[in-house]
Amino acid sequence: MASMTEAAMVEQVSKHFDAGRRVQALAGVDLQVGEGEMVVLLGRSGAGKTTLLSLIGGLDRADSGSIHVGGQDVNALRDGDLDRFRQRTIGWAFQTAGLLPLLTALENVWLPLALQGKTEKEAVAEATTVLDAVGLAERADHRAYELSGGEQHRVALARALAKAPLLLLADEPTAQLDSETAREITTLIRKAADSGTAVLFATHDRAVTEFADRVVVIEDGRVRDSA
Ligand SMILES: Nc1ncnc2c1ncn2[C@@H]1O[C@H](COP(=O)(O)OP(=O)(O)O)[C@@H](O)[C@H]1O
Ligand SMILES: [Mg+2]
Repeated sequence: MASMTEAAMVEQVSKHFDAGRRVQALAGVDLQVGEGEMVVLLGRSGAGKTTLLSLIGGLDRADSGSIHVGGQDVNALRDGDLDRFRQRTIGWAFQTAGLLPLLTALENVWLPLALQGKTEKEAVAEATTVLDAVGLAERADHRAYELSGGEQHRVALARALAKAPLLLLADEPTAQLDSETAREITTLIRKAADSGTAVLFATHDRAVTEFADRVVVIEDGRVRDSA
């Protein structure tokens, strides 16, 4: 049974890949992320971070174990329900901002909301609010390709947070940024947690751990709690 106080609850999850040789990417992982909690998943390249986030976000399926997000059994979701789960419940922040370059900052944030069924007026109003929250109100009408790398990441974060996801999955979002810009982005993610979003932040960068409520170390597909 998943506890309703946990936004995400991972129990004994394993996952392997067969690519010529067998790789046990995750071996019996347990992990919880509470509402408004920022958990940093710290581990070296190849430790299993991306694999774990992909399973929690419903992009791939575990071999065994259970994953609950918002009380939903993610492994049991199929087709339309899985699409809706991915759209509504999960926000992603990646290493690359992944904006549509010719659209403006505001369009990049409001279009996904409109695709979810909001009216254009609602979507634009909500997008304006989140762009303001990431300090980009003045850049709203700039095309994405005109923005600096840090600004593009802030837009991407605004896009992820606009739908008020229960859980934000951040997969090394600061890996390609200079240390000052990385701190800005991490601070914004910390603020999202402070306003109630559950955050799982995967990184190899120890500097991020100072922002965490809790650090979980992952090594060779196994986790241990620390700090
Ligand atoms: N699609 C895949 N096919 C084969 N092996 C994979 C695949 N995805 C990940 N792996 C392997 O699983 C292990 C964990 O990878 P990953 O989760 O990407 O680690 P991290 O994100 O911590 O760098 C690595 O050994 C990696 O090579
Ligand atoms: Mg990775």
